[in-house]
Amino acid sequence: MNQRKFENFKLKYGPYALVAGSSEGLGAAYAEALAKRGLNLVLIARRKDVLETFGKAMKEKYSVDVICLPADLGDYERTKKLVTALDVPIGLLVYNAAYCPIGLVEAAAEEQLAQVVAVNVKGPLLLTKLLSQKMIQNHRGGIVLMSSLAGTQGSPKLASYAASKSFNAILAEGLWQELKPHGVDVIACIAGAILTPGYQQAQQAKAPGTLTAAKVAETALNALGKYPIVIPGGVNKAARFLLSRLLPRKTAITIMSQSTGSLS
Ligand SMILES: NC(=O)c1ccc[n+]([C@@H]2O[C@H](COP(=O)([O-])OP(=O)(O)OC[C@H]3O[C@@H](n4cnc5c(N)ncnc54)[C@H](OP(=O)(O)O)[C@@H]3O)[C@@H](O)[C@H]2O)c1
Repeated sequence: MNQRKFENFKLKYGPYALVAGSSEGLGAAYAEALAKRGLNLVLIARRKDVLETFGKAMKEKYSVDVICLPADLGDYERTKKLVTALDVPIGLLVYNAAYCPIGLVEAAAEEQLAQVVAVNVKGPLLLTKLLSQKMIQNHRGGIVLMSSLAGTQGSPKLASYAASKSFNAILAEGLWQELKPHGVDVIACIAGAILTPGYQQAQQAKAPGTLTAAKVAETALNALGKYPIVIPGGVNKAARFLLSRLLPRKTAITIMSQSTGSLS
């Protein structure tokens, strides 16, 4: 992206971007890609020290303002209080954080399943509503919601997470149309495997089509305003087409379970 495109991006989606879940991995890659485009950052994650160290590095490297809000996105009321108290104009929301308990739903604690809904469903839905009000008033802005190939069909051993990722993709598609007349762009990023600390912890072997976090963040931000969904990487695009369009549902679920079944 050239300097002029960076400036246009900043005019459309700046001056501040809020990245929900941004101390490391993909969230940090989104924050860095935005700082590179000259946007100031509001960063949210639970680990205060990790968040503040990353925030300081972004401030020094890109000379942007960085506000760190240590918070659990599973607690929406607290998040809302912190975000509402800010006195800065937020033109872009990237909702990146997700909770992914691995294993059978029948073996999961109720608290784990409730946290899936709180972080992956309630969080993006309500934060999107909260931040879109000002964007609608200003007739400009953007929202990026993270989805996953796991949410294209049922994914055994990731069933609740996969269902929540499907929610984000469908939500973004509906909002893409609802908010377009108000000048607000919405996109769902349907990612395959990404080399993040979370992915590396859960999966030893590298899946085909695995991308770096920087590549996924750049691809999603470049597609914002152009499409309702983006699937970074050719292999992942082909996989989604196969799983959602070509194969019968039973076969798609069986194929997915061959890769998710070995997760522990
Ligand atoms: N990694 C993959 O292979 C992959 C594939 C497809 C889709 N995705 C999607 O991509 C997104 C990123 O996933 P990732 O696992 O790779 O994570 P990541 O971006 O590498 O890290 C997650 C970030 O969110 C923060 N976070 C997590 N839970 C939080 C909470 N409850 N409250 C506040 N902050 C929280 C973490 O910091 P703290 O721990 O400090 O809170 C961390 O900064 C997710 O939406 C996921 O569904 C990932």
